[in-house]
Amino acid sequence: MKKLVVAAILGTGFLISCTPKTPAVVGTKTITAEYLAQGKTIFDNSCGKCHDLPNPTAHSAQNWVGIMNSMAPKAKLNDEQHQMVYDYIVSVKK
Ligand code: HEC
Repeated sequence: MKKLVVAAILGTGFLISCTPKTPAVVGTKTITAEYLAQGKTIFDNSCGKCHDLPNPTAHSAQNWVGIMNSMAPKAKLNDEQHQMVYDYIVSVKK
């Protein structure tokens, strides 16, 4: 019983600490393969409409920040989708 209570408290703390305060802080969230796959799907579906699908390795992670800031509104991505696509793009470089 005591163990369960502790787990519940830890669980709550985990959820709170996992809520990113600003979308750009990558270190506070867990990037899973599934999360990146979702980012790739959004990228594949949204970023090849007006031009060829861009090559993620063609720009530095730093440059992608600016590119995504101008392209996410064009692709009508919400903040979460914007972040997912960015995280996917940057992950391709590794
Ligand atoms: C509504 C049309 C549209 C959509 C959707 C769109 N783009 Fe673009 N994109 C453009 C236009 C127009 C340009 C060239 C002019 C400019 O840079 O604004 C461009 C240019 C680019 C460039 C070249 C920038 C450079 O500095 O060389 C990249 C990379 C890019 N887009 C990536 C993306 C990504 C990633 C997405 C998906 C999130 C996306 N685009 C979605 C219209 C679009």
